[in-house]
Amino acid sequence: MLFRQPVLPSRTLAAARLKAEGIIRAHRQMGCTAAGIAPLDLAGGLDLLLSKKGLPWISLNLVDDKGKHLFPARILTQAGDLRVSILGLTGPVRKTNVRQNGYRVLDWQATLPPALEEARQEADMIILLSSYPFRVNQEIARREKGITLILQAGILAGNMAPRVIDGTLICQTGSRGKYLGVLDLDRQDPSSCRNRFIALKTTLPLDRQVEAIVRQTMRQVNELHRRQLADQRRQRKEQQQARQRLKMLTGSAICSGCHQRQAAFWRRTRHATAWQTLAVRQRQFDRDCQSCHVTLPAGTLTRAEIRTLPLNFPLELRGVGCEACHGPGRKHAADPAGNHLRRPVASTCTRCHRDDHDTAFSFADKLPLVRCPP
Ligand code: HEC
Ligand code: HEC
Ligand code: HEC
Ligand code: HEC
Repeated sequence: MLFRQPVLPSRTLAAARLKAEGIIRAHRQMGCTAAGIAPLDLAGGLDLLLSKKGLPWISLNLVDDKGKHLFPARILTQAGDLRVSILGLTGPVRKTNVRQNGYRVLDWQATLPPALEEARQEADMIILLSSYPFRVNQEIARREKGITLILQAGILAGNMAPRVIDGTLICQTGSRGKYLGVLDLDRQDPSSCRNRFIALKTTLPLDRQVEAIVRQTMRQVNELHRRQLADQRRQRKEQQQARQRLKMLTGSAICSGCHQRQAAFWRRTRHATAWQTLAVRQRQFDRDCQSCHVTLPAGTLTRAEIRTLPLNFPLELRGVGCEACHGPGRKHAADPAGNHLRRPVASTCTRCHRDDHDTAFSFADKLPLVRCPP
């Protein structure tokens, strides 16, 4: 039963979940009898643990919003002629490291005694898998009778020597599956126990099937990160293209210098103040609103590119300016005779005057209201 779990920083929840799934599959392959649920096991969300292909998870105090158990409280197993009941107790969940969705962790004081009562009736020996710290487990050992062994989890406790408290043995598990813990135990006399941790050295032969699971998991994580990198590169490219296209625009102030009659007319239309319309409503930095209330090079930007535009949109392009209707005019402004601008057609307007923002827009009816004078 060998499993060397690689210790890698998991940068994203997606990668961490892939690894968690791999670890669960590997433990199933190794024939795990019971797995107590510790707070960090919940970090990926409940669905990860509730999956049919999961581990034999147990918890006597993890319940759903209605107070119903989400997992069995205990598992009954046979060791020689001994009937052994294994109970799971989930330690306190800190809100900071866990997405607490759809479950609650109840106090042990209320939930442990009845679960123990049932376990005592069906088994000769009781083992409690607890992710509470030693201080609490010690109190449990003092108050509750009949627990032979408390196996305590939690990486912070380190490698604690076994302790016998009022006839109950408290042992600490190792972390990250890098050691095999062996415990020789006399049920009648827990204080005579012997325990040791066997390091799973890199020179030990690997279990082929578990190795295959680990390899596959690591490949999946690598593939995930490769895709994330490609996405980042694509986004950067879109951003550069979008900014490049914005540079084809010069802004309404420059146009106004040569076309004063048209500019004076435009300033009286609501197009000129479309940015203020958003600003007074505190929506000017909302991406969902910007695209139609600013001046963009019509038709040339994809939705994805628009999403990459700076939220702090260039001042001279705020509002529906000249170039929203006449097209990019930097070249025209530099050489008007050599670069003619377009006169708007219906599709120029309906890019923004869509049904969901302007019901019953009619080009023929509305054009006279915004057409610049000769
Ligand atoms: C870039 C997007 C966009 C384009 C292109 C556009 N509009 Fe508009 N239009 C708006 C927005 C936004 C408003 C509302 C502005 C506000 O009230 O702040 C508006 C308002 C109007 C109004 C009300 C004007 C007023 O002063 O009462 C008319 C009429 C109108 N548009 C017609 C047109 C026509 C015709 C075209 C095409 C020639 C056109 N628009 C092109 C976005 C656009
Ligand atoms: C698809 C283009 C488009 C988008 C996106 C858009 N608008 Fe507009 N908006 C328009 C047009 C066109 C008008 C002019 C409608 C008219 O004249 O009846 C307008 C007008 C307005 C008006 C003035 C209308 C009125 O009833 O006084 C407000 C306020 C407004 N938009 C807010 C927003 C907000 C907030 C968002 C983001 C949630 C947004 N817009 C996103 C196209 C758009
Ligand atoms: C809402 C769309 C829209 C906006 C914004 C707009 N225009 Fe126009 N403009 C038009 C339309 C429509 C015409 C008339 C085109 C035609 O006659 O076919 C026009 C015509 C013109 C003409 C030619 C006038 C002529 O007939 O000789 C000039 C110059 C002009 N606009 C400049 C500007 C300037 C400068 C701005 C910004 C200050 C501006 N436009 C903003 C729609 C717009
Ligand atoms: C340096 C002065 C100058 C600037 C700046 C300028 N224009 Fe013009 N514009 C002209 C002249 C001159 C014409 C007439 C060109 C012709 O008939 O050959 C013209 C013509 C136009 C026309 C009529 C269609 C056409 O191209 O002939 C529109 C529309 C127009 N300008 C819009 C704009 C817009 C929008 C801007 C800002 C992006 C702008 N202009 C900036 C000088 C200017």
